[in-house]
Amino acid sequence: MTDQPRRVLVTGAAGRLGRAVLDVLAARGVPATGLDLRDPGGLPADRVVTADAGDTAAVREALDGVDAVVHLAAIPAPSLGTPEEVFCGNTRATFVVLEEAGAAGVRRAVVASSFSVLGLPWASTLRHPAYVPVDESLPLQNEDPYGLSKQVDEATAEMMARRYAMAVVALRFPLLGGPGDKFDKTVARYADDPGSGAKELWTYLDTRDAALACWLGLTRPFEGYHAAFVTAPTTLAAQPTEELVERFHPGSERRAPMPGRAVPVDLGVAERLLGFSAQHPYPVAVPDEREAEAS
Ligand SMILES: NC(=O)c1ccc[n+]([C@@H]2O[C@H](COP(=O)([O-])OP(=O)(O)OC[C@H]3O[C@@H](n4cnc5c(N)ncnc54)[C@H](O)[C@@H]3O)[C@@H](O)[C@H]2O)c1
Repeated sequence: MTDQPRRVLVTGAAGRLGRAVLDVLAARGVPATGLDLRDPGGLPADRVVTADAGDTAAVREALDGVDAVVHLAAIPAPSLGTPEEVFCGNTRATFVVLEEAGAAGVRRAVVASSFSVLGLPWASTLRHPAYVPVDESLPLQNEDPYGLSKQVDEATAEMMARRYAMAVVALRFPLLGGPGDKFDKTVARYADDPGSGAKELWTYLDTRDAALACWLGLTRPFEGYHAAFVTAPTTLAAQPTEELVERFHPGSERRAPMPGRAVPVDLGVAERLLGFSAQHPYPVAVPDEREAEAS
């Protein structure tokens, strides 16, 4: 581990993941500055800046005393704004936050990327990955402004790592949530219609595990720029992964076995770079278990 950061700037602090990251920092006694367009009150941060992450002066002010950044502020889906708002807003925020952080001497940044960077989840038709398990070298196929914003965010992060000799990791999060939250509905939907998860490759991650990955990104010893998929090791679908892939992505090259409900994502970078493994698996009932419960 590197030393704990002295103070962390969390952008998007009022969002679902932002709050979870603030909780992780508070639990470890690390002071936090939150930055968000809105301040709902009650955030576990001793400083909250209400501003756009694309506002240079506000970001500069928010960076006071900060030595590490978790940049989460973004419009998190292409449907939540106009194409210009989603692409231009997200990419401007990432550029400004990392440029100001680098210039201020910040040595470490964690950036929220997304599984959507692949171009599969928001595509108008079912696109197929060139190979499975997918990894960080997979060619991208974006046709939507959100996926492209994450592609550009990753390029910005890589450039800033070089420009300022910062250690930067872009975490490619899948669907985030938790039990009693959207996972319950997603599991039920996949049970009725497994094809409805094919664009996401049936991936998910508990928001608490996503926050843990951010913490590891702040504290594990590494240099330079990295992108890493961080997902749960299994899917939200009850069916075996090999069957799902054969049915919905029959042309994708198989590069490794995907036993049982193993996620069709190579998690090697997250394990080696961050020492990450998900701690909060969602309890998907597979058919045999359901039958056993019924009898
Ligand atoms: N939720 C998911 O399933 C998911 C999946 C993959 C990646 N991500 C990424 O993780 C990050 C956090 O997502 P979340 O689920 O917490 O989303 P969220 O919508 O709950 O929170 C995002 C927060 O960012 C703020 N924000 C947006 N644009 C801003 C700007 N320009 N300046 C300042 N604040 C701004 C919003 O006010 C909001 O509070 C995002 O970058 C998102 O793209 C989320």
